[in-house]
This record gives sequence, structure tokens and C-alpha cells, in this order.
Amino acid sequence: MVALRTALNGSDYPARAACCYIVGMSDTAKAGDGFRLTEELRQSPFMRACRREPVPHTPVWLMRQAGRYMKEYRDVRAKHSFLEMCKKPEVAAEVTVYAAHRLKVDAAIIFADILLIVEPMGLELEFAKGEGPAIHNPARAKEDVERLREVEDVSALDYVYEAVRITRRELRPDLPLIGFCGAPFTLASYICEGGGSKNYVHTKRLMYTDPGAWHAMMSLIARALSRYLNAQVAAGAQAVQLFDSWVGALSPDDYREYVLPHTRAVVEGVTPGVPVIHFGTGTAGLLELMREAGGDVIGLDWRVRLDEAWARLGDVAVQGNFDSVALFATPEVVRRRARQILDQAGGRPGHIFNLGHGILPETPVENVVALVEAVHELSRR
Ligand code: CP3
Repeated sequence: MVALRTALNGSDYPARAACCYIVGMSDTAKAGDGFRLTEELRQSPFMRACRREPVPHTPVWLMRQAGRYMKEYRDVRAKHSFLEMCKKPEVAAEVTVYAAHRLKVDAAIIFADILLIVEPMGLELEFAKGEGPAIHNPARAKEDVERLREVEDVSALDYVYEAVRITRRELRPDLPLIGFCGAPFTLASYICEGGGSKNYVHTKRLMYTDPGAWHAMMSLIARALSRYLNAQVAAGAQAVQLFDSWVGALSPDDYREYVLPHTRAVVEGVTPGVPVIHFGTGTAGLLELMREAGGDVIGLDWRVRLDEAWARLGDVAVQGNFDSVALFATPEVVRRRARQILDQAGGRPGHIFNLGHGILPETPVENVVALVEAVHELSRR
């Protein structure tokens, strides 16, 4: 087994990720449905960085790289609603591939949304124009939690797996494709609030007043997420990212008690050998706990220094952490600030360059292109 592990991974890789996935082991994967990890993909800078192996240059990709800041995206979006785009695999694949090739990034992320999984739970999801997502029947009390449907079978999201398969076929064969989901807390916050929130009053009220119902909801979400991620892996995703975008609203003690076990269950449920990126924002007070919850790569936002955060985290890869808003400056400023982050990483293996959060809609495309070029040029070993 050790010889096999070394042959397959070429490194001493943590136990969970010790074996290579030949066929995705999803509950829903049918025989022959799995994607074989090619050597070309396994040796790509992004995959090597996930395993903290040396790389020829620091790999870079950007959260929300396929989005409204790009004219080509807006042209496609003009013809479809956002949910339609997600549910038409050819369209989702087209925008994914276009953005990755155009920006010359080192990984693509499948075009989808963290909220798609709430539909098979029996929740009514809508993306109203200019207003962000809404769930029309939020779950705020025990009775609501009891009516949430267990997502036994994640085939309701077949359109996502089909988009993964098409994207994988059309993407440059050496470019890894990242699958993703929302982390349990961030999803629970939408399910309780019914949309975005500032203070998370409904979410925390449920958490504090009915911990039984809270944990029941979180474990239902976590079970659905593991199945969902593994179905994306079986369809052809090489790595997965958990977005815990709003987890920074929690104190460390609340995170430990109400969230950590559920996030850990999702991470531990991912097909062995598939790197997991665990990302959150506002997490300066939570980094060690996020590490404890798991992930091969910890995503950092821009509010922490990358070197200090990495020192706190220890032996794990890190992703981040350029301030998305700095992309509104000039290409020179972008370049200088990219260099500052690369300097903090100090050429150590295991840094994936990214933003601290997603690209904003009005961002000038030329600055995004300049950022990717700067990272490649300044980090060439
Ligand atoms: O990164 C990528 O290019 C892949 C696509 C992607 C989208 N959403 C597409 C999208 C990813 C990875 C997400 C994740 C997501 N969705 C998160 C976590 C990341 C984060 O930003 O914290 C969250 C919180 C959501 C929920 C969500 N979806 C919100 C809050 C919104 C509205 C906000 C906004 O930017 O309008 C969406 C809509 C959404 N998801 C858009 C895109 C491209 C914009 C939809 C449009 O075209 O109108």
C-alpha cells in the first residue's frame, strides 16, 4: 500500500488523501461513471500545490472568475436567468471554460451556485434580479426543520454533474476542474434567514434556543453535501472547495460547538485522494478551528496577513488572499500588491494564489488579466 501510495502520489500525503481515485466512489456513481485522474492533471501546478509539492510557478485561480465583470458572461446572461444558466449544462460549461482559458488561470471552477442543493431539500429558491438569492419558505423552527427533505439521492442535481462532464471534455486537458458546495453553516444561514443577512438573527436564535433542531438540520445538510461533492468528483472534478462565506459571524466557541463537527463530516466524506479547499471569510478568529475541521488547503480572506495566518495554521496548504477591491486600482498597483502576497508566501510549497473573496461585478477585466500574469511572472522559480 505504501509503495502504491508513493507511486500514485509521489509524496507523503495525509492519510485521508492517501489513495488515488480511479473511479469516484459516489453513492450515485454508476459503473463506468468515474473519471480517471490523468498524470497530466495530477502533475499540474494547482494539484501539486494542494499536496504541498514544489511548483514551477504559483498556481492562481479566482473565486467568481466566471461572472458579471466579463462582457462575454453578460452576453450569455442576457439570454438566460441565472438559474437557467446553472441548469443548462452546455451553457454552464461554456462560461466555465471561457473564463478559465481567457484568464489563463491554473484551475477552473464549475459554474453553479452553493444554493442549488436547497431545492431538493424542499426549499423554494429564487434569484431575483439585483436582489441576490431568496428562499421563500425558510426553516426557522423545529417544525420547519422537520419538513426539510433528506437528500438521499443527489440526482436532482444531475445538471451539475453533466456540466462537470462537458466542462472536463472541453477544458484544456492539463487544467484541473474544481467542484464546490457551500459549507453547512453558510447554507444553514440562507435556509434560516431566507436570504443574505447582516446579523443572522434567525440562524443564531435557532442555534441557541433549540440546539437539537439545529444539529439535526446541520447533519441533514452535511449528509447531502458529501453525496453532492462526490457526485461532482465522479463526474470529473479534480478537487473540491467548501465555501463557508459567512462563518465569520460566529465566535470561536460557537463555531466549535455548532459547526465544526458538521463541516468535518463533509470533509471526511469526500472521496479519498481528492484535495479539499476549506474557505471562509472573516475567519481571523477561527483559523485554527477551521484547520481542525479539515481540508488540505485553507482559504484565507484579505483581512489577515498570509504569512501570519500560515504560521498559525502549520502544515497545510493555503489559498488567497488578494483584496478583491484592489482590482479596482491600476495594473501597477495590482502587480505590487500581488508581489506583497507572494513575498509573504516566500516560495514555500503549498500556496495557491486567489482573492480573499469573489471578483466583484464592476471589476475591470484588464486588471484581472494583469493579476494572473503578474502572479505567473513574479513567482516563476
Ligand atoms: O466562482 C465561479 O466563477 C463559479 C461560480 C459561483 C457562483 N456562485 C456563481 C454566481 C460560485 C463558486 C458561487 C458560490 C456562491 N454563491 C457563494 C460563495 C462564494 C461567495 O461569494 O461567498 C455564495 C455566498 C453564493 C450565493 C449567491 N449566489 C449570492 C449571494 C449571489 C448574489 C450576489 C451576486 O453576486 O449577485 C449569487 C448569484 C451568483 N452566483 C452570480 C454568479 C455568477 C450572479 C448571478 C447573476 O448573473 O446575476
